[in-house]
Amino acid sequence: MSKIIKLIKKIPKAELHLHIEGSLEPELMFEMAKRNKIEISFKSVDEIRSAYNFHDLQSFLDIYYQGNKVLIKEQDFFDLTWAYMLKCRKESIVHTEIFFDPQAHTNRGIEFGLVINGIHKALLKAEKELGISSKIIMCFLRHLDEESAFKTLDQALTYKSKIIGVGLDSSEVGHPPSKFERVFKKAMKEGFLTVAHAGEEGPPKYIWEALDLLKVKRIDHGVRCLKDEKLVQKLRDEQIPLTVCPLSNIKLCVFKKLEDHNLKKLLDKGLMVTVNSDDPAYFGGYLNTNLIECQKPLNLSMEDVKKLAINSFKSSFLSEDEKKKWIDQINNLN
Ligand code: ADE
Ligand code: ZN
Repeated sequence: MSKIIKLIKKIPKAELHLHIEGSLEPELMFEMAKRNKIEISFKSVDEIRSAYNFHDLQSFLDIYYQGNKVLIKEQDFFDLTWAYMLKCRKESIVHTEIFFDPQAHTNRGIEFGLVINGIHKALLKAEKELGISSKIIMCFLRHLDEESAFKTLDQALTYKSKIIGVGLDSSEVGHPPSKFERVFKKAMKEGFLTVAHAGEEGPPKYIWEALDLLKVKRIDHGVRCLKDEKLVQKLRDEQIPLTVCPLSNIKLCVFKKLEDHNLKKLLDKGLMVTVNSDDPAYFGGYLNTNLIECQKPLNLSMEDVKKLAINSFKSSFLSEDEKKKWIDQINNLN
C-alpha cells in the first residue's frame, strides 16, 4: 500500500455530510424488508445493486425514498445507525454529523420520536463503546411545502437536546432556499444551527440564498460556486465550509468523471473544502473510498489529505477545544 493511501486510511477525520438513510446497505435493506414484511420491488441484493444507476439527483431520490420504506421500528433506525458507526471505526472517522429526513418517515405514518430515538441510542452506544462523537442534523425535504416543514420543526422541539441543527435536502432545482426562509428563521430562534444543500444541481444563486436568507454555517455540496467569482471570493474570505461529496457527484452526473471534479481546484483557491460520502450505500463507497478514488485523478498530495482532514474538524460543530485536540493530533502525524 502506498504512503498516501496509508495516510488516508489512518488519519483522524470528521464526516459532515452523511444521510443516515443513504447508508442503508442492500443486505440490511433486504433483511429489514423480510422482518417487517415489507414488499420491495427487488428479488435479491444483486438486483438492488444493479438498480443503482442514476442519471441525475431525482433518479436517485426516487430509489432512495423506496429504500427508506423498510425502516419501520426504532430497532431498524438503531441497526441502520449502528452499522454506519462500525464503518466509521474502520475508516478512522472519529466524529460524524449525520443527517436524517424525518418527513420521509412521518409521511409513511412512522412516528418522529421512534426515528430520532433509534438513531440517538446507536450514537450513544458508539460514543461509549467506539469512542466516536456525533451530532444529529434534521433535514427538511425541499420538494414538500413550507407547512410540512413547519410541522416537522414543531415535532422536533420535544427532541431539541438531541438535534444540533436543521438542513435542507431532496430535489434542489425549482425549490430554492428562499422557499424555507421563514422555517429556518423559526429554527434559529429555537436555537438550531443551519446548513443547506445548495449548488449540487442548482445555480450559484441558491448558494447566495442559503447564505443570506437561511444564514447557513456550511454549504452542502456547493460545487457549482465556481461560476460566480464574487461568490467564490465570499466563500474564501469567510472560510464558509463546503461539504463536497465526489463519488455522489459522479453517480448523479454532476461531473462526468473524477478527473473533471473541481475538488482540487476549490482547495487550491483556498476554500474551506471537506470530503464526505453523502449516501455511501448508493454511491459506491464510504469516506476513505471517496478520498482514495480521488487521489490519483486529482493528484491529491499528502498535504492535501492532511488539509482536508483538518478542514473537516474546523468545519464541524465540535467545541474549539475538541477541534484543537484533533487538529494537533493530525499536525503531529508523521
Ligand atoms: N438526500 C439524500 N442525498 C441527497 C443529495 N445528495 N442531495 C439532495 N438530497 C439528498
Ligand atoms: Zn446530501
